[in-house]
Amino acid sequence: MNSSQINADGPIAVFDSGVGGVSVLRELIKIMPGEDYLYFGDSANAPYGIKNLDVVRELTCAHAAALFERGAKGLVVACNTATSAAVRVLREMYPDVPIVGIEPAVKPAVLSGDHPRVLVMATPMTIREEKFKDLVSRYADKGEIIPLPCPGLMDFIERGDLDGDDLIRYLMELLCDFRDGKVDAAVLGCTHYPFAKTPIQVLLGEGVKIFDGGEGTAREMHRRLSEAGLLRPDSSLNAPKGNVRFENSSDDPGRIATCWRLLAMEP
Ligand code: DGL
Repeated sequence: MNSSQINADGPIAVFDSGVGGVSVLRELIKIMPGEDYLYFGDSANAPYGIKNLDVVRELTCAHAAALFERGAKGLVVACNTATSAAVRVLREMYPDVPIVGIEPAVKPAVLSGDHPRVLVMATPMTIREEKFKDLVSRYADKGEIIPLPCPGLMDFIERGDLDGDDLIRYLMELLCDFRDGKVDAAVLGCTHYPFAKTPIQVLLGEGVKIFDGGEGTAREMHRRLSEAGLLRPDSSLNAPKGNVRFENSSDDPGRIATCWRLLAMEP
């Protein structure tokens, strides 16, 4: 697809392994309310974070191709795991299309204090990949960065469980070494985790600053679309609201309902 084939009236595609990318979608809508959005969650193949890299890259590229075929004018890979596996390849395949990925918000977290202890919660794959290692080495002198793989955490959000007993028990065990102010900041490095922010905050301690990459990613997409002349003519904050369409590879209609529920939640 070259730039002359991109239609500024097309929707912005938002892709995640499941429902978590809604935490990025809500930031996109906040700054570009007049755009249309086509959200695709691959819940039938989730979780991505415990798969191997080639599988996630293949799935992400196949879904991206389908979204472009349907007229998407840009793509937000609203999944840290899929970003680390596939965003470089996607940019090579579609050099003229605005494609923005998400990465754990390590930078604002390490800059939020004087050599802070920063816990980075993410999927096993995100933490294992080169992209994350590069990110950590860039900021290693600014704070103590503690990676914490969280296999299984996304499944609670997929099921729509944001504060149930099983989730609390899981988090108590996962975070037992870091509770009650033992870290200064935490990064939610998977787009599902912002929906469990409240119990995470309670367990880590009220003074702990919590960061996620949703807002920065949305700002970057706005910048890229504007640079490419692909923003809708009336993209002001008062523009009439665009359409949001949710689709999912799972045949469980509950996934779409969960997406609408998550979108309606206050960040
Ligand atoms: N939401 C995805 C992320 O940001 C991962 C969830 C999964 O394991 O599929 O990393």
